[in-house]
Amino acid sequence: MRVGILTGGGDAPGLNAVIRAFVKRATVQLGWEVWGIEDSFNGLFAERRRVWRLGPLDCRGLLARGGTVLGTTNRGDPFDYPSAHGSRTDRAAELAQAVRELGLDGLVCIGGDGTQRIAWRLMQAHGVPVVGVPKTIDNDLEATDSTFGFQSAVAVATDALDRLHDTAESHDRVMLLEVMGRDTGHIALEAGLAGGADAILIPEIPYRPGRVASKIHLRRAIGRAFSIVVVAEGAVPHALREADPAARKQALDDAGGAAGLAMASLRPLVDAEIRAVVLGHVQRGGSPIPADRVLATRFGVVAADLVQAGRWGQMVRLRHGVVDGVPLAEATRRVRPVDIDGEKVKVARAVGATFGDMA
Ligand code: F6P
Repeated sequence: MRVGILTGGGDAPGLNAVIRAFVKRATVQLGWEVWGIEDSFNGLFAERRRVWRLGPLDCRGLLARGGTVLGTTNRGDPFDYPSAHGSRTDRAAELAQAVRELGLDGLVCIGGDGTQRIAWRLMQAHGVPVVGVPKTIDNDLEATDSTFGFQSAVAVATDALDRLHDTAESHDRVMLLEVMGRDTGHIALEAGLAGGADAILIPEIPYRPGRVASKIHLRRAIGRAFSIVVVAEGAVPHALREADPAARKQALDDAGGAAGLAMASLRPLVDAEIRAVVLGHVQRGGSPIPADRVLATRFGVVAADLVQAGRWGQMVRLRHGVVDGVPLAEATRRVRPVDIDGEKVKVARAVGATFGDMA
């Protein structure tokens, strides 16, 4: 058996741990050849082919290392590939040809929903056998209960909240921290819980600035002159709840992001200094926390098990504590938003955090 492995989409702490686990299981225990493909599917194109054989010695130090040694990109869908002249072409058949030329029996594709969709299309349209491994710090894939990288990102965001807490308290300021999450608020919610945020603003619950301001005033009235607000990058005020995605994006861009928009809407309502911090890609880098190393290792080993069992067209996932496979056709269908009636939102409210929707 000869299998290719690649990483696609934005990176996440734990990608190297998956590569390590897959390579160890596949080469040492199962006796296969594993070939690493660089920069997602792009490393298969003839003009920039970059593939190299991976063995256990290449895995030294990978468990704890952030990023991905294979490189990645979240640009360049092979079915809609940008050419130098600005036009776009379908180059997927070239990838299938490359897989055949390299004598690969199939590909293990580690990536988010975009990568999994491409992998599944490659299998359907061109017969390339694929197994998917889900990845995203956003934790927004419906098909898996959790993705590695998420808890590491939450740890970084929580650490930032702790630090902001200190300086906010010293200066009696309102501190806003913008965190990632694309169109969902999982990172904001978990970091908000772990970091004791006073307000948690997420895309799933459009906020009313007046309600957030009330919370800040209430705290001041009881002698807590500072407040901490965590803002998911997709969070918008209630006034924009029905705006189409383009108008929302424009409003966010105009304000310099979700924290900027929240700051602008709170300024006229709050008699305190407000500062906004955008955490950005710091959340994606660094060593994965132990829980993510464990999950990534489980995903890598089960990916090899799926290949061994001939279960091509499946994606590894965690469901009810067990790592198994789910058909890729189902896996790429839905994004999982924060459950706004769920336990975590209730718990956050119970300890006094506002989502800006209730007084
Ligand atoms: O999906 C992961 C993620 O980090 C999102 O949280 C964020 O919106 C996006 O990727 C950022 O992408 P880029 O690396 O292209 O700026």
